[in-house]
Amino acid sequence: MARITAETPPFVVAALRERELTFRNSKQLHEAYFTNLGGDGRRGGAIDAALREAYSSTAVWDAQFRASALGLGGGSGWVVLALELDTGGLRTLGSGHHTQALAAGLPLLVLDMYEHSYHLDFGAAPTRYIDAFFANVRWDEVNRRFECGQRAATAVHG
Ligand SMILES: [Fe+2]
Repeated sequence: MARITAETPPFVVAALRERELTFRNSKQLHEAYFTNLGGDGRRGGAIDAALREAYSSTAVWDAQFRASALGLGGGSGWVVLALELDTGGLRTLGSGHHTQALAAGLPLLVLDMYEHSYHLDFGAAPTRYIDAFFANVRWDEVNRRFECGQRAATAVHG
């Protein structure tokens, strides 16, 4: 990327920029995914209350997150619970590609729905993988991200 100049063909620059975004997001989302795993799956803390407030009940949010994940089953992509920094709102997103992201979104909970993440263990049964994911979420890490994000959102929108 550092070798891009005014003489670099535009189609090469465009392709390099697309690859840069794909790999940067892939790295970021994989790190967030692995570090929000390793827990006991018991949700609590500020994020639990915020989900209840945003979605009327945590069961509604849970169903929407799982449905978003199943929508990617057999395909590939990410499901992300994000904090939208310009509004301070929680958003549940399905991303079919590493480059589809909420521009002002801070990932709080990330689920890898690329087949490589579950096919060896669960085959064509993404529901079992999603169950296993939720049983192992580190909600203390999600809460840490949420609390950091709330401070950032306050700084962004006051
Ligand atoms: Fe992955």
